[in-house]
Amino acid sequence: MDAQPAPAAVTGVVRSAARALRSAGVDSALAEAQLICAHVLGVDRSALPLADGLDPAEVAEVGRIVAARARDRTPLQYLLGRATSGRLDLAVGPGVFIPRPETELLVENALAALPAPGEGPGPIVVDLCAGSGTLALEIAHARPDAYVHAVELHGPALEWLRRNAGERAAAGDTPVEVHAADATDPALLPDLRGRVAAVVANPPYIPQTDDLPADVLGHEPATALFGGADGLVVITPLVHVAAGLLAPGGHLAVEHDDATGAAVAAVVCAQGGFGNVDQHTDLAGRPRFVTATRRAETDDDEVDQTVRKGITR
Ligand SMILES: C[S@@+](CC[C@H](N)C(=O)[O-])C[C@H]1O[C@@H](n2cnc3c(N)ncnc32)[C@H](O)[C@@H]1O
Repeated sequence: MDAQPAPAAVTGVVRSAARALRSAGVDSALAEAQLICAHVLGVDRSALPLADGLDPAEVAEVGRIVAARARDRTPLQYLLGRATSGRLDLAVGPGVFIPRPETELLVENALAALPAPGEGPGPIVVDLCAGSGTLALEIAHARPDAYVHAVELHGPALEWLRRNAGERAAAGDTPVEVHAADATDPALLPDLRGRVAAVVANPPYIPQTDDLPADVLGHEPATALFGGADGLVVITPLVHVAAGLLAPGGHLAVEHDDATGAAVAAVVCAQGGFGNVDQHTDLAGRPRFVTATRRAETDDDEVDQTVRKGITR
């Protein structure tokens, strides 16, 4: 009987994967090499030093993923099939936007704005432009008493959204209701009009450009990225839809391009139904999302709608 070859040492496989990724121009080559090896071994990246080694099939699988990443910059998350999203691990692949860490502060902001658990019936939350479902699913995870709705228009993204909603519900989270619908449709979710505690949105908002990394431009769906020439083509009607859905006192949080904070705040002010319009930065200190409070119709003449001058986090 042939002797089994000794497992290849993890450090050597990581090093050679990192070398290949670096020479293909990948920025975080070592971190990616570690993530790939951890994925193939089925362990957390932090547990890699404890792993025995990789057998030949595992080494070949690492090579296959590295080659795919190096060849055309397919995003690592698509190749691994998963993305970390706040406290959750979501399924992703071609056709869906990969959740970004900068969105996490928006989730925290929205959670902080919800009425505390036990204060009346569970709050209704709507995620417009849900993609993989990161915002909706994080909120449902953190607030089991909430009724969370996720709206997504595009077929491939909807498939990932439904898959993630199913996975999270099977893991014990409160189920999120998925709607295949247009977040800019004034007739959206008629049964929820005037009843929603928070509308959250990370819509397509990049002003049209070719100047994006190859990982993004060549792979993530344009329908998830671009918001027309000024980045506001989806945001502007979406803010009107949010005003119709929110209850008086309800909270709006909309992510935007780092160049359009003031323009988005102006759109929210101009809508007419909101007060307390605030601009917020992300973890890197860049303008990233706008929040506002839905006014009662009768407040119209009483509330000053000027955008607060300070940028808060
Ligand atoms: C930037 S991605 C954000 C996805 C997710 N919310 C996140 O933060 O990872 C924008 C998402 O909006 C969806 N979308 C674009 N236009 C839409 C519309 N009019 N109505 C609903 N969804 C839309 C895209 O398909 C994409 O999934």
